[in-house]
Amino acid sequence: MCGIVGFVGKKQAAPILLECLEKLEYRGYDSAGISLLSDSKITTHKTTGRIHKLNELTDCGKSLVGNIGIGHTRWATHGAPSDRNAHPHMSNDNKFSVVHNGIIENYIELTNKLKSQGIKFNSETDTEVVAHLLSMYYTGDFLEAVHKTVSVLEGSFALGILCQDYPGKLICVRNSSPLIIGVGENENFIASDVTALISHTRDVIYLQDGEIAELSENEVVVFDSKLQKVNKEKSKINWNIDAAEKGGYNHFMEKEIYEQPKAVKDTIEPRIKNGKIVFDDLSLSAKDLSKFNRIVITACGSASYAGQVGRYVLEELLRIPVEVDLASEFRYRNPVVDQNTLMLVISQSGETADTIAAMKEAKARGAHILAIVNVVGSTIAKLADDVLYTWAGPEIAVATTKGYTTQLALLYLIAIFMAEKTKRISDVQTSALLADVEKLPELMQKTLDMNQNIDQLSKKYNTNRSIFFIGRNIDYAVSLEGSLKLKEISYIHSEAYAAGELKHGTLSLIDEGRLVVALCSYEKLFDKLMSNIKEVKARGAKVLSVAQEGNTDIYTESSDVLLVPRINPLFAASLVVLPLQLFAYYIAKENNCDIDKPRNLAKSVTVE
Ligand code: AGP
Repeated sequence: MCGIVGFVGKKQAAPILLECLEKLEYRGYDSAGISLLSDSKITTHKTTGRIHKLNELTDCGKSLVGNIGIGHTRWATHGAPSDRNAHPHMSNDNKFSVVHNGIIENYIELTNKLKSQGIKFNSETDTEVVAHLLSMYYTGDFLEAVHKTVSVLEGSFALGILCQDYPGKLICVRNSSPLIIGVGENENFIASDVTALISHTRDVIYLQDGEIAELSENEVVVFDSKLQKVNKEKSKINWNIDAAEKGGYNHFMEKEIYEQPKAVKDTIEPRIKNGKIVFDDLSLSAKDLSKFNRIVITACGSASYAGQVGRYVLEELLRIPVEVDLASEFRYRNPVVDQNTLMLVISQSGETADTIAAMKEAKARGAHILAIVNVVGSTIAKLADDVLYTWAGPEIAVATTKGYTTQLALLYLIAIFMAEKTKRISDVQTSALLADVEKLPELMQKTLDMNQNIDQLSKKYNTNRSIFFIGRNIDYAVSLEGSLKLKEISYIHSEAYAAGELKHGTLSLIDEGRLVVALCSYEKLFDKLMSNIKEVKARGAKVLSVAQEGNTDIYTESSDVLLVPRINPLFAASLVVLPLQLFAYYIAKENNCDIDKPRNLAKSVTVE
């Protein structure tokens, strides 16, 4: 997720662009840049680091002439954060400058075609290909060049474009990435969301996918994908700035919970082409994959709990031993690891000290390191032998949600990919599994829609007594994450337990009125879990169950039931975790906790 802005009017553009970009930093902040068009010449200023660095470089834009420009604040997906990877990107003839939010899924194919025609590339980004295509298609008509360019792009793109031959015009395009137009008095804006515009105008035009808009200082013309003019109504924004930054939600965590279907879609869709999984940057051949006789997963916190889910899926499909080791333990354990070990390192931030130390231990012992990371160019990404990125976008809340569920999605793809490449599953099985994974974004959205009443249940079960989460198989792995979410943001003690383990000690803690959250999606062991529910109820517990749609038996023993849609049990964790995130969120909200910044915690634990 990145932030793009654009301005055309009578005022000096640079200070306005920079001020708008500052409001979008929560969308990405590893590098930033602006382009200005003045006297039929485009000048571009960009740098790694946050907007304040660009402000320092340009005296807050005061030193830059021009009353039309575009700007960008980056969250790297392709190409590590660097000056040359920062946006805007220019065509080699300097006629065009482009800013982009989204992922051009066919950029490698387009880049190779352009390179074969002698076009020189200056960055590692997917975006740069757009600038060169514009130049290639340009015969004097700006709008036509844009139209031809977007017609060959695949994937998600919100674009802001300048052309040096059109001093009074900027063109923008929206396709699967957000983009809105701000309508001012003799000035017009583009932005990724209202946060950037609210201090200038509350009159906006929402573009639909496929639409192209031409902005000048006193006119906005919108075209559909066939370049037919479209009449668009203006809308009035009533949010305050704080609400706008959170997209209208009360907290970043709430916003990020509801971003998960799209984050998972962004993470899986670009990697499934013609019924096959394509990992563009993976160095491991089928032969390499076949040599691994075990997998060790290491991570911390929620990332380790994602690994616990991944363990079940990987073992089921690969039929080799898979273990999960907390990084803080692994690093001091003198682990038995060798060149036949594949280590999966999972980290949202890519900067967790314990996880870095654990991967160094494994690397020193010959293991091949495959990292699953959300931050491009982070320490773990650089240290790993291979890295696959979750494209969740920046996660602002300390308590991870979309970071965790995009890790799950990538673990599913890795398991299927490895099983298919090592011939442990057939093509038919591969297709069936991929079909199930591709349903996840839609089923996650349905799960969120089905559980709108959770705030009532959170009120009902809000307690200062310890809450227990129990489950079997993958549900047990999810219970670990559900318990951590509750502890992390509401400060209520909680324990996650393998349901079959209760009788070995913990049952003594179950007393009258104790809340037990029972995860019952793994129906092969449903009867066993029902026995465990009866065990705790016999000691006075109240039971809040999470089960798959259509399960009626669960109601007989539960005080309340939360339902999730039916799905292949291997992937159920992606759905079951959602009501648990919401349950924790609403209890913490009920208790007026500092949800986005819980006490004592940091978003990235870069120390031991
Ligand atoms: C999760 O909600 C917590 N913020 C924490 O457990 C986190 O998952 C852990 O610190 C690992 O962080 P990482 O994924 O950035 O390595």
